[in-house]
Amino acid sequence: MTPQHSGFSRAFVVMAGIAAATTVGVLSVRVAHGQPPALKDKLAAAQTPAKPVQSKQPDANGYIPQFSIEEIMESIVMPAAQAIWDSVAVEVTEKGTIEKKPETDEDWEKLRWEAVTLVEATNLLIVPGRTAAHPGAKSENPGAELEPEQIQALIDKQRPAFIAHAHVLFETAMGALRAIDARDIDGISNVGGAIDEACESCHLQFWYPNQK
Ligand code: HEC
Repeated sequence: MTPQHSGFSRAFVVMAGIAAATTVGVLSVRVAHGQPPALKDKLAAAQTPAKPVQSKQPDANGYIPQFSIEEIMESIVMPAAQAIWDSVAVEVTEKGTIEKKPETDEDWEKLRWEAVTLVEATNLLIVPGRTAAHPGAKSENPGAELEPEQIQALIDKQRPAFIAHAHVLFETAMGALRAIDARDIDGISNVGGAIDEACESCHLQFWYPNQK
């Protein structure tokens, strides 16, 4: 027997010993609760509505792309864009037209936060390792939209184009920020259309390319 081999054997025996000790520890806890392990596990599964989300681990550069593109769209990109779109509007009612626009300093400050959010969200989209959706996710409109794994394959294949689309959104969102800083109501309204186009052009290439 080579020295290396005997070393391996010893390590293996030690590990097996730890494993056995751990199992005994878990079993004794379960016995202490007075329920057979299998039943206890089933009860726990039935009582827990969803598995708690596990934290991902940082990559070599320290990035932790925890959530999917889909979740970033819903929770960050969409609300920020919507707030900018809704900030300036003309409503025609029976009593006449009502112009909706930011009025107070606080209105302007809050609107600026939305533009900052949208600008920086474009960096979130291109963080290396960010996936389109979680494994096993399915399209809500199959046929009309690609399935998440197809979206992922497209992004992997055409990554420079994906990044370019994110940069177009970056620039239009910066346009919104400048219009807000200038308190330029028409500017905000015009840049709103450009933001919409930036969203659509990426979606047309990567999310629903069949709708061209
Ligand atoms: C760089 C590309 C890109 C840009 C720019 C982009 N999106 Fe998306 N978006 C995607 C992709 C890819 C998906 C599909 C993700 C999936 O379902 O896996 C998506 C999906 C969505 C969804 C659906 C999320 C869901 O619940 O399924 C919404 C809403 C959305 N985007 C809004 C926007 C808005 C609003 C903008 C512009 C302000 C925007 N997106 C800009 C790539 C982009």
